[in-house]
Amino acid sequence: MKFFIDTANLEQIKEAQDLGILDGVTTNPSLMAKEGITGKENILKHYKDICKIVDGDVSAEVIATDFTNMVKEGEELASLNDQIVVKLPMIKDGVKAAKYFSNKGIKTNVTLVFSAGQALLAAKAGATYVSPFLGRLDDISTDGLNLISEIRDIYDNYGFETEILAASIRHTMHIIDCAKIGADVITSPLSSITGLLKHPLTDIGLDKFLKDHKKGN
Ligand code: E4P
Repeated sequence: MKFFIDTANLEQIKEAQDLGILDGVTTNPSLMAKEGITGKENILKHYKDICKIVDGDVSAEVIATDFTNMVKEGEELASLNDQIVVKLPMIKDGVKAAKYFSNKGIKTNVTLVFSAGQALLAAKAGATYVSPFLGRLDDISTDGLNLISEIRDIYDNYGFETEILAASIRHTMHIIDCAKIGADVITSPLSSITGLLKHPLTDIGLDKFLKDHKKGN
């Protein structure tokens, strides 16, 4: 299972990378804006900076919503670094663009996926990754994990190679449940990744070991 961090914050990306468990990064226009990264040149530079920190795939989302401009924008993003994955919204032109990039051997991440049918189309288009948003489904009282499970079944039925990138992760249990279902990748805020470290019995046990060691020396 791959671990991606879902942020454009360079400090958090470095912290996850230093932990030694990071496989990649996902960003989106909202996450870039949150870090105050605006304007085309600054955005492109920021993607290059992220690629310098991590070894793995870095999803960079297009802003265009029509095929011609998605292709233009995606090609410019992909030319920045081999690590760049062109992130495309799950709309008709996004599916067409995913097919176009797939034919050219450029990696894609089809995002804003909320149904099994959308995930099926992304796989048919040859997307490298499909991003079902489980937290946002949970927010509207719909079982996000069930969607991950449905997509897993469908992809396994036909041997689709598109990787399921569980997105919109809100807490540690989302990560654990995705691992049980067999999502290929999770993309998560740093807090949910580091949250996996925590157990009170680990802290109590370590405290006792250190105290006992001190007594014996
Ligand atoms: C996925 O790639 C998105 O960036 C992300 O996971 C969205 O999560 P949110 O619902 O917390 O905004």
